[in-house]
Amino acid sequence: MSDILTHLDAGVMTITFNRLDKKNSITSSMYAAMADAVAEAGADPAVRVVVFQGHESIFSAGNDIGDFLNQPPSTQESPVFRFLRGIATFEKPVLAAVAGPAVGIGTTMLFHCDLVYAGDNAAFSMPFVNLGLCPEAASSLLAPRMFGYHRAAEALLMGEPFFAEAAQEVGLVNRVVPPTEVNGYTQAQARKLAAKPLTSLIATKRLMKGGQQQEVLQKMDEEGQSFGRMLREPAAKEAFGAFMEKRKPDFSKI
Ligand code: COA
Repeated sequence: MSDILTHLDAGVMTITFNRLDKKNSITSSMYAAMADAVAEAGADPAVRVVVFQGHESIFSAGNDIGDFLNQPPSTQESPVFRFLRGIATFEKPVLAAVAGPAVGIGTTMLFHCDLVYAGDNAAFSMPFVNLGLCPEAASSLLAPRMFGYHRAAEALLMGEPFFAEAAQEVGLVNRVVPPTEVNGYTQAQARKLAAKPLTSLIATKRLMKGGQQQEVLQKMDEEGQSFGRMLREPAAKEAFGAFMEKRKPDFSKI
């Protein structure tokens, strides 16, 4: 079965991470499938709302580290950047159902969702510094804006997980529910939205987010250039090598 599943029902396109054995970590081909699904959802009048979901035990472990080492994104047309631009500019409502860990892009993609529901086991983290990298998905702009600078600095510089209740407090999450209910609850909310006039949903989202879109795209571009460069540098090589070898990284000389 495919690592990314898409399903359309009652105006709701659901995009499911389906790579549980690797903790729903995302490979380049999965990003390509997600970017294509988002583009299709934007163009298809039968799609009124998009939902991202994982499993009740894990949303996503972020980028697949081995895949990233083997085929780092090299241009703005790389699947990961296509996907990020796709969700950052998506006109219709996007919801996410998050249970368990949401690492790296598993958290940063949520800044581009309109409603986020979390299981009480959700653990959000943006460990870019710990991987010798820098933020992506315009999280260096949107996290300080949403959380306040100091709380964003804690999340982005320390890279430690923060949990469902804290995520709700900083505004990243709308509501916390039991993990077994998060996908169902999010579907129910998506269906309520899908029954509303799409023209009004689109206009309302554009009015709320339109003003910052250029700034977001510019920041993504700037982050993408640093991220791409840093992926090839010693700190990331050490961090990724350590992950593959299941040992602690040693940054003492970097
Ligand atoms: N890329 C590639 N493989 C990954 C992965 C990732 N980001 N995250 C997990 N996996 C793989 C593990 O290598 C392991 O594979 P194996 O069974 O072949 O050894 C399998 O998924 C299970 O992972 P494991 O670490 O044993 O699960 P866990 O439940 O103990 O921990 C996480 C789950 C998500 C907390 C942990 O896997 C993790 O921290 N992953 C890395 C997250 C990360 O740094 N992402 C990059 C962000 S840019």
